[in-house]
Amino acid sequence: FEFTPANRAWAEGQISKYPEGRQASAIIPLLWRAQEQEGWLTRPAIEHVAEMLDMAYIRALEVASFYFMFQLQPVGSVAHIQICGTTSCMICGAEDLVAVCQDKIARQPHQLSADGKFSWEEVECLGSCANAPMAQIGKDYYEDLTAARLGEILDELAAGKVPVPGPQNGRYAAEPLSGLT
Ligand code: FES
Repeated sequence: FEFTPANRAWAEGQISKYPEGRQASAIIPLLWRAQEQEGWLTRPAIEHVAEMLDMAYIRALEVASFYFMFQLQPVGSVAHIQICGTTSCMICGAEDLVAVCQDKIARQPHQLSADGKFSWEEVECLGSCANAPMAQIGKDYYEDLTAARLGEILDELAAGKVPVPGPQNGRYAAEPLSGLT
């Protein structure tokens, strides 16, 4: 793994923001850029980032494996679905969303669908508990989900469409509520 020239220049810019001896502070943005370049964080990608930051590989791996925004296994080429399984979402139907993923993608989390386009996993609270149950797909949140709506979203993604993110049940009016403008 090597950063592309543009990504390498960007990474060096990030590193230069920190004082001498504190380059390791740039690890999260560099890992994120490596993941954007490759789709997921391969061992060579983590090694490359660690080398740029003068860190041991194991230290970089510790960070990469702590946050579930980092993927240490291949993900679907179209989308990786992260279903929140924490309390609010669990009470409001997260298990039904997991069942949709098991039916339409793969039985096991982190397993690729037969066509390689999708993967899924259950994650901890994504901070959108008031709109439970919800899922993160790419960088977007899909909230107030039902099993039926998640199935439609997967179909839309498979057809090359980009489903509209945010609450899926019309919870928010199109017009701002009076007094809140
Ligand atoms: Fe699901 Fe917090 S419990 S977003």
